[in-house]
Amino acid sequence: MENQGIPWQYDEFKQVGTDYGRKDEVEIYDSSHADFRDIKAESLRVLDLLEVTGDHVLIDLGSGTGTFAIEAARRCARVHAVDVSREMIDCAATKAMKAGVTNVRFHHGGFLTYRHESTPADAVVTTFAFHHLPDFWKGIALKRVNAMLKPGGKFYIHDVIIEENNALENIAALIDKLAAAGGKLMREDAERHFKDEYSTYDWVMDGLLARAGFTIRVKRMEDGVLGTYICTRK
Ligand SMILES: C[S@@+](CC[C@H](N)C(=O)[O-])C[C@H]1O[C@@H](n2cnc3c(N)ncnc32)[C@H](O)[C@@H]1O
Repeated sequence: MENQGIPWQYDEFKQVGTDYGRKDEVEIYDSSHADFRDIKAESLRVLDLLEVTGDHVLIDLGSGTGTFAIEAARRCARVHAVDVSREMIDCAATKAMKAGVTNVRFHHGGFLTYRHESTPADAVVTTFAFHHLPDFWKGIALKRVNAMLKPGGKFYIHDVIIEENNALENIAALIDKLAAAGGKLMREDAERHFKDEYSTYDWVMDGLLARAGFTIRVKRMEDGVLGTYICTRK
């Protein structure tokens, strides 16, 4: 059964935790994340890992300010950048225009609502966005992602994903590390992540991915709290 149109569909447009629908949050996003990550370098690494080539179609779900989508667009035929926040979409579209990138199509939608109606994708990427869905809806979303891909197509996910052993200690260490890099605001942001958002266990993710029709090719966990998966559609 298709999830669209059911009255009890999870409202993914209602932001939980940090409100990325707010203009001020969007405006500070790139500079505050620069305190603890280099999004452009990360993007280039992901494109290398996925072996993206000039004829590929790629979807970025939860595309935020568009850094990954813009770098991807320089390497492939077409990028679909999808986000539930209009402010984020507008910011990313402006950045793409300034960068002279014209092969990104921006969509106001999300994991549960974006309908991919053009050429099936060679790869779907999502970074630091999937934790916005509760676990049941993650399962529904992953089946939708699977259906967006060509057979053999790749799915890359990087997010806060938690190993069970020493979970509380590892989360506390992550919050301290982020606060050391980005100060009080970053500490509040990190605490809000665990209080209000839906990061889950890696063993839950393993099961959800397998049940959605993915083969897990690579799984990497860092510090018990950051997870990366590269999967292929069966
Ligand atoms: C922390 S930002 C990550 C942005 C970017 N991918 C990155 O790595 O910097 C999370 C983004 O996911 C978006 N988002 C939240 N829930 C979503 C959903 N259900 N579907 C798609 N995007 C969603 C937010 O609006 C926000 O732009």
